[in-house]
Amino acid sequence: MRIDVLTLFPEMFESPLNHSILKLAKEAGVVDIVLTNIRDSSKDKHKKVDDRPYGGGPGMVMMCQPVFDCFEQVEKLSPDKPRVILLTPQGKPFTQKLATELAGEKRLILIAGHYEGFDERIRTGLNAEQISIGDYVLSGGELAAMVIIDAVVRLLPGALGDGESAEDETFSETASGGSTSLTAGGLEYPQYTRPETFRGLTVPEILLSGHHGEIEKWRRQQSLERTRQSRPDLLKDKQK
Ligand code: ADE
Repeated sequence: MRIDVLTLFPEMFESPLNHSILKLAKEAGVVDIVLTNIRDSSKDKHKKVDDRPYGGGPGMVMMCQPVFDCFEQVEKLSPDKPRVILLTPQGKPFTQKLATELAGEKRLILIAGHYEGFDERIRTGLNAEQISIGDYVLSGGELAAMVIIDAVVRLLPGALGDGESAEDETFSETASGGSTSLTAGGLEYPQYTRPETFRGLTVPEILLSGHHGEIEKWRRQQSLERTRQSRPDLLKDKQK
């Protein structure tokens, strides 16, 4: 997969892209992530990229010219047709299901804005879909782009090492929407590792029993209980 990111702050991506799974995935050739600074495309003599909103109001708005020119230059860098995504709090919510869908694409172009938002003609003119990572306002789209890159890349075949699986975890579902994991689309069950006793705190007996059927049942119950406690909305969603 190729991911292009259009941003005013490419340096913000350096650390997250150069550690852990993302670093390994890049090194393994599973993903190619290319950062392009929108400001470099500004035709203004002061390299301006934002301006005041027509009709008044607070803050500044990202201008069309630098974003359109940057996009057109980046789009040409690969023959694959990209899925174009604008990071905004007005977008559709980013979920594991959407991450799985995006992981099936050959190419993504993520556009991270700053200030109060984008000139609306950027969305319409570039035929971009808007995605939000949650109901809160970040100071820019960069952190949202990083969240999406992380969630998508770890799903790509070959991104996780042999011993790891992205399937049996909280929120994982099949592409058809049906759940296959032990967690059944809910929150993951509690996990333990050695030692058996730490500061007097013990591992539940059942996990040491070797009874795989019973362990699976216990995990299912724990998963359901946790989901009921912390995210009852997920159980309601399943009943729809
Ligand atoms: N930019 C600012 N806030 C955002 C959010 N919640 N999701 C995506 N992009 C954003």
